[in-house]
Amino acid sequence: MLVVTLIVVSIGGLVEIVPLYYLDSTVEKVRGMRPYTPLELVGRNIYIREGCYNCHSQMVRSLRDEVDRYGHYSLAAESMYDHPFQWGSKRTGPDLARVGGRYSDDWHREHLIRPKNVVPESIMPGYPFLQERPAELDAVEADLRANAALGVPYTEEMIANARADAAAQADPESDGAEAVMARYPKAQVRDFDGNPDMVSEMDAMIAYLQMLGTLVDFDAFRAEGEALR
Ligand code: HEC
Repeated sequence: MLVVTLIVVSIGGLVEIVPLYYLDSTVEKVRGMRPYTPLELVGRNIYIREGCYNCHSQMVRSLRDEVDRYGHYSLAAESMYDHPFQWGSKRTGPDLARVGGRYSDDWHREHLIRPKNVVPESIMPGYPFLQERPAELDAVEADLRANAALGVPYTEEMIANARADAAAQADPESDGAEAVMARYPKAQVRDFDGNPDMVSEMDAMIAYLQMLGTLVDFDAFRAEGEALR
């Protein structure tokens, strides 16, 4: 019995594992995915620092109720540039994988300062200090470089301009604004926190939230799926 069990389990294991050695990639490429802009990356770091993942997941499962509520289920490619990924397993608050574009910047600012201002029954804590603190932009170049070392396709040009791009994304009047949009397609360039005097942590956080789930063009994705069938 033991021998037969071992044989059966080994066959099962081989069938699962061997094909992985013959696949170039287990993550299907999808049009629209790009590395995070430097400002989005700074926002993502604050998201991790503040532990937002303790209450929020970033993965829409392929179940009817989730798709109805949040939108298209998450694709593997959508988190391929995440180091570390933010899928999460706890939903005290809603999933955030597709929160980008759902609310205005003003809503996010009010909500992050004091969630009860916009959602009276909310139990989410406030993060009013994000508005007061300047975003830490000195480390962003090194951060891009570290991500590049992990396989995120940041070019030397993106790395060299990281600090300037981070500042320019929060300042639509600046000379660098167009360069940001050229380097990072679909990048949203705005004064996210409404305070033009400073690139705050609030700017970075809202830039990150407003991008979530907006990169992949799902009409093109579905059309390609149809074409394959
Ligand atoms: C203690 C748990 C908790 C933590 C920590 C937390 N949240 Fe929330 N969050 C919630 C709950 C509950 C809601 C739903 C009520 C509301 O909208 O305030 C929510 C709602 C949200 C929403 C609106 C989502 C939607 O689709 O309506 C956003 C955006 C959000 N949180 C962002 C964040 C960010 C960014 C952080 C970290 C800085 C964070 N949250 C930390 C519990 C939490």
